[in-house]
Amino acid sequence: MIVGSVKEIKDSEYRVGLTPNAVNEYRLNGNTVIIEKGAGIGAGFSDEEYVRFGAIIKESAKEVWDAVDMMVKVKEPLPSEYKYFREGLIIYTFLHLAADEALTKAMLESKVTGIAYETISEDGKTLPCLRPMSEAAGRLSVLEGVKYLQKPFGGRGLLLSGLPGVKRARVMIIGAGVVGMNALKMAVGLEARVTILDVDLNKLVEIDSLYGSKVTTLYSSEANIRETIKTQDLVIGAVLIPGAKAPKLIKREYYQTMRPGSVIVDVAIDQGGSTEVSKPTTHLNPVFQVDGITHYCVANMPGAVALTTTEALNNATLKYGLKIARGKAKALDDLAIRRGVNTYNGYITNKEVARAFDLEYFDILDITKTRR
Ligand SMILES: NC(=O)c1ccc[n+]([C@@H]2O[C@H](COP(=O)([O-])OP(=O)(O)OC[C@H]3O[C@@H](n4cnc5c(N)ncnc54)[C@H](O)[C@@H]3O)[C@@H](O)[C@H]2O)c1
Repeated sequence: MIVGSVKEIKDSEYRVGLTPNAVNEYRLNGNTVIIEKGAGIGAGFSDEEYVRFGAIIKESAKEVWDAVDMMVKVKEPLPSEYKYFREGLIIYTFLHLAADEALTKAMLESKVTGIAYETISEDGKTLPCLRPMSEAAGRLSVLEGVKYLQKPFGGRGLLLSGLPGVKRARVMIIGAGVVGMNALKMAVGLEARVTILDVDLNKLVEIDSLYGSKVTTLYSSEANIRETIKTQDLVIGAVLIPGAKAPKLIKREYYQTMRPGSVIVDVAIDQGGSTEVSKPTTHLNPVFQVDGITHYCVANMPGAVALTTTEALNNATLKYGLKIARGKAKALDDLAIRRGVNTYNGYITNKEVARAFDLEYFDILDITKTRR
């Protein structure tokens, strides 16, 4: 198969679909790889590095789109890229189709095959290609909190770890999933006093046995959040209810009981956010203040550490990508990949996407049965 990557054109997106390492693996498995000139610069990979690992460099995105059987990207294609869609082309990337009617329509009309990182799953529950992004956002959430607690950035002038003879800062993490557990790891490592809340008792049991007296675990009830938040310096919103908007667990009325200059890092902002005032911000303008509380609400936090997250993303996507490159029959034998297929030959093959636009859903095995 001919596999390729182009430069991401979404604002402030520095990651790239294929690392030189991944190029090497595709090549060793008998594929040809084409990369757009300069595609990896934002993530720290030069054209020379790609060439060293066997890629062919093309001057323009068009040349890559026109040549490949499978386009490996990071972000969903933008409208200026729809003109490259054609029957049989595989696009392997984050798609988030349920939130993008124009893209869904363009993919169906052109009959491209869309395989979405975010719906690939071995067990129907965990999302291996999404996980590294949540890990990165969780770790970054504490680092951003550390920064915005500092006086020059509008904070109270607090050092998370305290100092000998001076109290440590308090961190509250709401949600003990992938983001929450990674935030916890950083906050404990930075020697803060940490409280973590979840409604899933199994997670709290796990944390209790892992961290013992270093961490306080609390059931995530309205009363526990209202009471605990009064004394916190940094609050991290890391809740997810799959398929739903994030619950507004942090009420504005709590702010009058909080200390001015405290920070809320609302990682769940991509699902609407965990506070009543959250609105998406960007890396260039990441924070705003409400009632003296600093809110950090960047919706694509992993993009800030593009080198690390490009590598982590490739580590997760490569094994499925290599299987897809072995051809339709091999790819469709793999349940995780079948779950990843969102559009195929003009059909919607993902239930959530079909539901989002009130369109008919087709089982990928039914529509490919006759063709395999
Ligand atoms: N801003 C960004 O750049 C960025 C990056 C990655 C992920 N995210 C978002 O972060 C959020 C968390 O992602 P994740 O991968 O950790 O999800 P996850 O499914 O691993 O964890 C979510 C946790 O929330 C818990 N939860 C559900 N309801 C709760 C409640 N009422 N109180 C407390 N906990 C509750 C669940 O039990 C679960 O443990 C998601 O909205 C995700 O989209 C944002």
